[in-house]
Amino acid sequence: MASKGVFTVLSNTPLTDSVWEMRLAGDTSAITRPGQFVNIELEGLYLRRPISISDWEEGALTIIYKVVGEGTARLATLQSGAALDLLVGLGNGFWSVPAERVVLVGGGVGVPPLYGLARQLIAEGKSVSVVLGFNTASEIFLSQKFEALGARVVVATMDGSEGVRGTVIDAIGAEGVEYDYFYSCGPLPMLRALCEQSSGEGQVSLEERMGCGFGICMGCTHETHSGHKRLCKEGPVLLKSDVIW
Ligand SMILES: Cc1cc2nc3c(=O)[nH]c(=O)nc-3n(C[C@H](O)[C@H](O)[C@H](O)COP(=O)(O)OP(=O)(O)OC[C@H]3O[C@@H](n4cnc5c(N)ncnc54)[C@H](O)[C@@H]3O)c2cc1C
Ligand code: FES
Repeated sequence: MASKGVFTVLSNTPLTDSVWEMRLAGDTSAITRPGQFVNIELEGLYLRRPISISDWEEGALTIIYKVVGEGTARLATLQSGAALDLLVGLGNGFWSVPAERVVLVGGGVGVPPLYGLARQLIAEGKSVSVVLGFNTASEIFLSQKFEALGARVVVATMDGSEGVRGTVIDAIGAEGVEYDYFYSCGPLPMLRALCEQSSGEGQVSLEERMGCGFGICMGCTHETHSGHKRLCKEGPVLLKSDVIW
C-alpha cells in the first residue's frame, strides 16, 4: 500500500555532469519491491515528478535523477535539511523468479532501480551479471557500486570511450554474458531490442508521462497482451511476453 509523507534531504550530490543522487529520510515502510517509484511534489509545479527508488532501508531511501527540465533542475538545488512531500512505494516493481543466472540490463537513467534489485537478488544467492549502457565514459555512474555488491559488471559506451563499443546488446554478445532470465530498465528502443534478441523470459520497466501516479487518472494506460494496464499501478514492470511494442 503506497503512502504519503514528508521526507528530509540527507544529501544531494552530483554523480556526473547532469545526474544527481539524493538520499532522503522518512517512512519507507510502504516500499515492498525494487523497481517501485516515488512521486515528488515540487512547489509551483502542477504535477508531481516520478523517480525510481534506487535503494532503500528502514527510514531512508535513495533516488538518482537526471536534470532534464524545471522539476529535476529544482531538485538539484536542494540542500540537506530541505523537506519534500513524497508519495512512496508506487507501482508493482520487479519480482523474483526461480532462475539461477540473471542479467540486469540498464541504459542511462534506467540504471538506478536495478541497484536495489541487484542487492536483493545477490542476497537470494543468485548469480548476477549487470550490463550498463551509456553514450560516453563521462556519463557512467553506479558501475563500481554494482561491483561492490558482488555482481559481474559489463559496461558499454556508444563511442567506445570505456568498455565495449556499442549497445548493451553488443556488450552481452562480446562478453559472453550467459543468463536464464533478464531484468531491464532504460530507453524504449533498448528494451525492445533486448526483448527481440533474448530467447528467454524477462521483466522490463516501461516509462510513461504520469498524471496522478497512483491509478486514478488513467493517463498512463498501456495496452498489453493481457489487457490495458496502468503503468503507475500494474506497471511500470511488465513481463516481456506481455508487452505489445
Ligand atoms: C516510473 C518512472 C520512473 C522514473 N524514474 C526516473 C529515475 O530514476 N531517474 C530519472 O532521472 N528519471 C526518471 N523518470 C523520468 C522523470 O520522471 C522525468 O525526467 C521528470 O519527471 C522530468 O521532470 P522535469 O520537470 O525536470 O522535466 P519536464 O520539464 O517535465 O520535461 C523535460 C523533458 O523531459 C521529458 N519527460 C518528462 N517526464 C517524462 C517521462 N515520465 N517520460 C518520458 N519523458 C519525460 C519531457 O517530454 C521533456 O522533453 C521516471 C519516470 C517514470 C514514469
Ligand atoms: S498516472 Fe494516473 S493512472 Fe497512472
